[in-house]
Amino acid sequence: MNNTFAKDIIDGLTNEQKQLSSKYFYDDNGSRIFQEIMQMPEYYLTDSEFEILSLQAQQIVDALAFQQPFNIIELGAGDGFKTFKLLEYLVNNSVAFNYIPIDISQEAITILTQKLTERLPQLSITPKVGDYFEILKETSKSKTPSLLLFLGSNIGNYSQEDASNLLTLFNKNMNRNDKLLIGMDLKKNPITIHNAYYDEGGVTKRFNLNLLIRINREFDADFKIDDFDFYCHYNPVNGEVKSYIVSLKAQTVDIKKLGVTIEFKQNELIWTELSKKYGLSEIEELSKKANFSIKKHFLDCKHYFTDSLWEKLD
Ligand code: AVI
Repeated sequence: MNNTFAKDIIDGLTNEQKQLSSKYFYDDNGSRIFQEIMQMPEYYLTDSEFEILSLQAQQIVDALAFQQPFNIIELGAGDGFKTFKLLEYLVNNSVAFNYIPIDISQEAITILTQKLTERLPQLSITPKVGDYFEILKETSKSKTPSLLLFLGSNIGNYSQEDASNLLTLFNKNMNRNDKLLIGMDLKKNPITIHNAYYDEGGVTKRFNLNLLIRINREFDADFKIDDFDFYCHYNPVNGEVKSYIVSLKAQTVDIKKLGVTIEFKQNELIWTELSKKYGLSEIEELSKKANFSIKKHFLDCKHYFTDSLWEKLD
């Protein structure tokens, strides 16, 4: 049994405000649903970042200003779909670099490596499975300069404090002049953001409810999925999309393997996810807090999204 997950379920569902972390969305089925989300026309984030990495690869390399071969270390590489265009450009233009994709999923890394070696046979690739920081500790011992990639607005799923701590940890595991390219979703017309998460096809709803299916399977629970719904809300003032699972009636759920029974009131919420949207001044603040300076923002043509290039300060 997965102990941290078990503890988080018990703590989260016995809390006054029930909550379950979105980091548990990604079992095999959840990862597949997330692929579906990334292909939805409403979910503009993927297209925006794809456009930036496809059209501005040369500008990104120029801004790195590395004078020697370098590493590109991708944190949470997943299927590598967005990064492919950047890698392809660099390989085709004989830029000397080694690509180090890191993911916790062995399956994701195997598929990615296979795909990349087929499509870009000249690519130098050193795939790694495991904990970001263990691996960064190792790579930072070498003298090779590094560009870290943390794409897809993954940072938006962390609370302000957790985001700041995570970025500070990245910083501590980098060397002077190393860079971080971080994907962040920007504040924009609230309706555009609302529609990206409240999609008409109900894919994001399935993504959330899959977490209950996962708990049923892994902890022998009896969540009746049809008795729960999905709600999300974008607050354009603070830039936070918050997603919830809603109990449609008063009900009791047994989680047998954890030995707990959870009571739900009608319309009670389980908070599942934060997806933060940033203003440029907030990004500035976040970078400073974690001891980075911003070298450049790479924006898509609609100015929906930034891949922001940060440099580690001394
Ligand atoms: C992975 N993460 C950045 C996505 C997001 O936009 O917060 C996950 C997601 N949740 C609902 N749709 C997509």
